[in-house]
Amino acid sequence: MIRVQVPATTANLGPGFDCLGMALELYNVVEFSKIHHGLVIEIEGEGSGELPRDQKNLVYRAARRVFEKTGYDPGGLRIKLSNNIPLGRGLGSSASAVVGGIIAAGMMSGASLSRREILGLACSMEGHPDNVAPAILGGLVIYTSVDGEINWLKIDLPAGLKVVAAVPDFPVNTREARENLPHMVTLRDAVFNISRAALLVAALQKGDFNLLGTAMDDRIHQPYRSGLIPGYKKVVSAARLAGARGVAVSGAGPTIIAMADGNYKLIAEVMKETFRESGVSARSIILDPNP
Ligand code: HSE
Repeated sequence: MIRVQVPATTANLGPGFDCLGMALELYNVVEFSKIHHGLVIEIEGEGSGELPRDQKNLVYRAARRVFEKTGYDPGGLRIKLSNNIPLGRGLGSSASAVVGGIIAAGMMSGASLSRREILGLACSMEGHPDNVAPAILGGLVIYTSVDGEINWLKIDLPAGLKVVAAVPDFPVNTREARENLPHMVTLRDAVFNISRAALLVAALQKGDFNLLGTAMDDRIHQPYRSGLIPGYKKVVSAARLAGARGVAVSGAGPTIIAMADGNYKLIAEVMKETFRESGVSARSIILDPNP
């Protein structure tokens, strides 16, 4: 039996749209085993009532890409998914499925896929790299790929940093959330984001939590998406007042993440309660970054 554990991820971190992502200590587990014939998919945990149990399943579709590439025929296949990452909430559930399927199928095929091959395959299925890269590499990953060769760098995160995720009880479709974005941004807004993304990476490397408030600001995606998240502005303000250092939409949302170096429980409670006051039922999860 092959067992792969893939972390949840939070992408963008405010200014780093499609290029910054962080892995979190919350995991989906993918298990592959051979059976005589056919495809059996068992799912427990998050999404067990919604995810397909046939060839449409994303883990299977990712695995099939690897089997096609390596020429390996698994014969019958049993896939067991034990999911802890909330589905469609901006915490990288689909990246975890793609990465889990690719790595498990690579191991089953006996193929030694390089990191570059795994990243390339996973990015081609996901369409953007900022969830799949940290899901594969762990930690905080900076990834460059637009119209050029891919490069990435993983940086160490400061001790004491935790991520409080306030997860609303409704999903946001990433494709639709991307359709809301402008195709052009002003030079001013581009400079705003570039400067903050650079500041964010440096602040995290140096452990300078005071800079995170400024560094996690964004002008190129959140202003266009926040309308999909009732109570967004109030939750951000409440988290900051409760002691969060920086606050952002996680990926395409609707989860809002707060980076904190203390007051974790208070921030979690305040974010959940502020969502509730805006008519949104949400749960809060306090997570360590995946190292
Ligand atoms: N960077 C992607 C986006 C992440 O914001 O659309 C999606 O999880």
